[in-house]
Amino acid sequence: MDAASPTPTDNQSSAPAVSIGAEWWRSAVIYQIYPRSFADANGDGIGDLPGITSRLDSLQHLGIDAIWLSPFMTSPQRDAGYDVADYCDVDPLFGTLADFDAMTAAAHARGIRVIVDLVPNHSSSDHRWFQEALAAAPGSPERARYLFRDGKGEHGEIAPNNWESVFGGPAWTRITEADGTPGQWYLHIFDSSQPDFDWTNEWVREQFRGILRFWLDRGVDGFRVDVAHGMIKADGLPDYTPPAAGGSMGGAAPAIGAEGAAGTAAAAAASSTETIIGASSSTPPVGLEPEIDAGWPESAPYWGQDGVHEIYRDWHEVLAAYPGDRVLCAEAWVEPLEKMALWVRPDEMQQAFNFPYLETPWNAAALRPVINESIRAFAAVGAPSTWVLSNHDVVRHASRLALTAENPQGHGIGPKSPGKPDRAVGLRRARAASSVMLALPGGAYVYQGEELGLPEVIDLPDDARQDPTWFRTNHERYGRDGCRVPIPWEAGHPAYGFNTTGASWLPQPDDWNDYSRDAQAGIAGSTLELYRTLLTARKQHGLGLGSVTWLDGVPETVLAFTNRGTTGAVTVLANTGSEPVEVPAPLLDTHVLQASGPFDGTTIDADTTVWFEASDR
Ligand code: GLC
Ligand code: CA
Repeated sequence: MDAASPTPTDNQSSAPAVSIGAEWWRSAVIYQIYPRSFADANGDGIGDLPGITSRLDSLQHLGIDAIWLSPFMTSPQRDAGYDVADYCDVDPLFGTLADFDAMTAAAHARGIRVIVDLVPNHSSSDHRWFQEALAAAPGSPERARYLFRDGKGEHGEIAPNNWESVFGGPAWTRITEADGTPGQWYLHIFDSSQPDFDWTNEWVREQFRGILRFWLDRGVDGFRVDVAHGMIKADGLPDYTPPAAGGSMGGAAPAIGAEGAAGTAAAAAASSTETIIGASSSTPPVGLEPEIDAGWPESAPYWGQDGVHEIYRDWHEVLAAYPGDRVLCAEAWVEPLEKMALWVRPDEMQQAFNFPYLETPWNAAALRPVINESIRAFAAVGAPSTWVLSNHDVVRHASRLALTAENPQGHGIGPKSPGKPDRAVGLRRARAASSVMLALPGGAYVYQGEELGLPEVIDLPDDARQDPTWFRTNHERYGRDGCRVPIPWEAGHPAYGFNTTGASWLPQPDDWNDYSRDAQAGIAGSTLELYRTLLTARKQHGLGLGSVTWLDGVPETVLAFTNRGTTGAVTVLANTGSEPVEVPAPLLDTHVLQASGPFDGTTIDADTTVWFEASDR
């Protein structure tokens, strides 16, 4: 693969050899590795880079195209590595730069691309740049790297504005100046150990160009960009009170189980005329830009500001100077989808996580318009849609889809949470939902462990929890530890094969033997084999570059579509309701590629998705 041995060249000579529309990321399935919980080679209870290298064969076998690694750079780990103290080195917890190079080479040798996490909104307070800023005087160039402001009130004792941290509590912390007097305040949209950079400062921009090149030179295929909707703040940092219902990262209210979604379903059911929508890669309308719409909901002054786009145009140029198709993927919790599409205009990033899809309940009438709108909004700027159901910040979908009470994104579930999910229902829905996701054209993200059907760990002991959310809300919000528990590899082994010592930075439940990879490998009907079959069929039929046609005449609880791929077609029927439905007559004799649950050929049970081979190409 060319990306394994990059030679920086000028823009001219590095023009992609492929035609627009054929870049790998347009159809890729990208597997998210959360390094501390994937595989632990040295047995200290925290996953590491050599651990990842040792397990790459399993990922190749699964059939994914790329891996994205959550941060492994030098960090005091106050937010599990999303607090970076040196952007160009590996934290000793995870290994060394040589371990990173070895992992990248091993991944590339298996045809797996490598995407690393870049955290540009804030650094760790341990970063040399911040320490120098603390030591320097107010008004100095060092202070100007971050967002330092004088406080209000007679003695500057009141925070500069009323913003709240995403993790709870105020978004400002007051420092003590070098001479011991109470001093300025600095902004941290997240933990107080995560000071926000001032991205209007050219010095900051230049540092990050260098960081991008550092990793591109090492052969990475791209970056997942953390908080890509937060780097620019509104002029004057005006006061703001977020609406009560929103997720903490700025998205909409979160999904709850289908039972609780009747209202959404009824509202969405209206638009069910026969629709044919293209997501074909062959002639994307590149250059077409959506109008900035005054009707969009007002953004918080720290989310989704227009000024961020100039930064991504700049980064686009940095990546374009390298051979191969390098990719920038935005973590941007902005709505609506049309606004999110601004992040993936032809001269900006390549992908954005589709959080509106993640937040949609398991409900056909709610899913169909979101899928339609996703394909339409991204295609309007020449980008593929992406699809995602789980990551390290949300309740795993094998639990989330069976929640019966509201659970805003980031809050998590624990022993005292209302509406706890039924495990069997959750797993059934997760398998059915993943079977829908992997049938859709565009890029898809799989979070480590979802291919094993892992549920959220709800019963973590209080004293094991580590998410800053838990501490900053006085234990009111459980936070995200429940989706971050080290994953099981071998049943009956210490730490289920996560390492050989049995140590684990978050305790693993005692009933995970059946979820272990070796307990599922080769077992017909296991979640692991379901994912493998879906990924194989997806590739064989070229579904990633396909286009979706909705099939009408099915009950309203059923999502029914054909994806005409580049090398085959698949018709998908997903029963999101609680009653079995009959297979429509024309499909009765059709070859079944896969079913997410027991299927007798004529009746699709509740919470079950079936893939039929479609002949009408
Ligand atoms: C992103 C990360 C999350 C982290 C936050 C602050 O949302 O996904 O894990 O806590 O940014 O960096
Ligand atoms: Ca380790």
